[in-house]
Amino acid sequence: MKLTPEQLARFDRDGYLFFPSLFSEEEMRPLIEEVPRLYAQHRPENVREKGSDAVRTNFAAHLYSNPYARLARHPRMVEPVEQLFGEKLYMHQFKINGKMAFDGDVWQWHQDYGTWLNDDQMPEPRAMNVAIFLNEVNEFNGPLMFIPGSHKLGVLDAQHDLATTSYPLWTINNDTIRRLVERGGIVAPKGPAGSLIMFHSCLVHASTSNLSPFDRVNVYLSLCAVSNHIRRFKRPEYIAHRDFTPIECLPDDCLLKDYDVPLPWKDGTPETALKPLAA
Ligand code: SIN
Ligand code: MN
Repeated sequence: MKLTPEQLARFDRDGYLFFPSLFSEEEMRPLIEEVPRLYAQHRPENVREKGSDAVRTNFAAHLYSNPYARLARHPRMVEPVEQLFGEKLYMHQFKINGKMAFDGDVWQWHQDYGTWLNDDQMPEPRAMNVAIFLNEVNEFNGPLMFIPGSHKLGVLDAQHDLATTSYPLWTINNDTIRRLVERGGIVAPKGPAGSLIMFHSCLVHASTSNLSPFDRVNVYLSLCAVSNHIRRFKRPEYIAHRDFTPIECLPDDCLLKDYDVPLPWKDGTPETALKPLAA
């Protein structure tokens, strides 16, 4: 899949592109069916919500789950990002965020690149976030909210929030958010399972808690230009990957057919991936 000049201009202006129903129901089925099995596992890659057993985020499933290993090599997602960065990509981070019915907690306002710079020493914001909806996202179940154009401001001042949720995040203060929203407004793309959002790593985003009876499970792939790989290994490898091997795409039907893919963490997470390599 190639982005048109119009899409490239829109991405540059707004910082995101939305593709409703990019994947069919049939393509999504193996991914959706795999989630309960992944979330039931007691492994460090499952981070649970504060005071609840509900999974907030599952990391690195592309290394131990066949359908997600195939998704991680999907040309409909990888090719446009290669086009934007003009080089091959590696997987910096891979997560399946639960935001489960009633229990799903907030994600405070932040930029992903803030964390990648502060924690991982990623040199430039040359990594793209791709979100794929595993179920319908509607106005009730905590859709992702973006401030269009906020990516143009580069890295904003942020504080390390270790208390609000079960997951540490570099968050942006309310006064800054108020100013950014006066300038750019807020959008919250909604759509059926199989929809995809591509968004700039400096785009300011957040989501509210999920008080609805509808789960909102999204996959997030963070695809980084290989030459822009992280320089510090302070976070465990299952959160910030250290394998910079370029992604080789599978054919476009890879979610419909069973392709052979490596699953190096199938029998458990290697000891070395659980710990920082350096402070
Ligand atoms: C994120 O920003 O990494 C997650 C946001 C969400 O899942 O709503
Ligand atoms: Mn984020």
